[in-house]
Amino acid sequence: MWIDLRSDTLTRPTAGMRRAIADAEVGDDVFGEDPTVNRLEGRVAALLGKESALFVPSGTMANQIAFRILTEPGDEIVMEADAHPFHYEAGGAAVVSGVTIRLVQGERGVLDPAVVRTALRPPNVHHAPARLLSVENTSNRGGGAVTSAQRCRELCAVAHEAGLHAHLDGARLWNAHVATGTPLAELAGPFDVVNVCMSKGLGAPAGSLVAGPRALAEKARRTRKMLGGGMRQVGILAAAAEYALDHHVSRLAEDHARARTLWEGLRDAGFAVEAAPETNILYFRVSDAPAFVGTLRERGVGAIAIAQDRVRLVTHLDVDDAGVARALEALRALG
Ligand SMILES: Cc1ncc(COP(=O)(O)O)c(C=O)c1O
Repeated sequence: MWIDLRSDTLTRPTAGMRRAIADAEVGDDVFGEDPTVNRLEGRVAALLGKESALFVPSGTMANQIAFRILTEPGDEIVMEADAHPFHYEAGGAAVVSGVTIRLVQGERGVLDPAVVRTALRPPNVHHAPARLLSVENTSNRGGGAVTSAQRCRELCAVAHEAGLHAHLDGARLWNAHVATGTPLAELAGPFDVVNVCMSKGLGAPAGSLVAGPRALAEKARRTRKMLGGGMRQVGILAAAAEYALDHHVSRLAEDHARARTLWEGLRDAGFAVEAAPETNILYFRVSDAPAFVGTLRERGVGAIAIAQDRVRLVTHLDVDDAGVARALEALRALG
């Protein structure tokens, strides 16, 4: 049996989700005529407490649209040193928006408002003007760490006081919401623009939403078109996303509990585990991560070596308690 803990993007649509896809009412979404997309966008905007939301193919595109609509070429975006757009979005911010990125060190991907405040330089002809603060919640490379609602308010206050906009990369905001019990609108509230993904823990095959004020909606839609993200009868994907909202949000608590079980098992077996997972992602250290991951794969367990000495495991919809037990058995055999 293959237990795939490489990523929560590996889930396959459940039988119920496939039925929802098959039954979806559709239209041409570039014309604004897909009723399922329109309903999803309204629903997600309401959940996040924003005026509008736009369905886009991926989290990367959602972040890149946010950057494009909130900055001008030559601006600077401030983000945590482990942030996804810096590491994994193919340099898109430079190409799509013509901006530079300034990294600020946080802890497990979580920014400290005081550190951000000192990193923001006063206007000076030598500097690229800082225009946007981007916050990732939960932090992928930070081991699924949550930025609390209070911390979000403080970070956005620092940004707004200094004249910056604030963007939330909430690819896994659902996990932060379930782990803390904080309403989504409270986590998203202080941010100008928010990205949420349907294809990570929620288990839809594709799709993210970029939400924000109505005044930016047309600009976001035009940017999506420019990037080639205008999709047609995409209600079949929006139906999967709606199904995920109805059935796969509260169950994220199971993924979090399983990540904790994995972490405890690894810790008890003497592995060099990083901090206990707050949500569904955990990391541990081994001397040769690529070799370790290769051997683990031969034993039926998928993991990712994200550095020479760092291994990532992610729990998700397609991994149950028996899968976690199997994975731990294989991991312990290599410990
Ligand atoms: C925090 C974060 N933001 C954005 C993305 C990009 O999402 P996508 O893979 O849908 O482009 C990811 C992907 O894993 C992510 O972890």
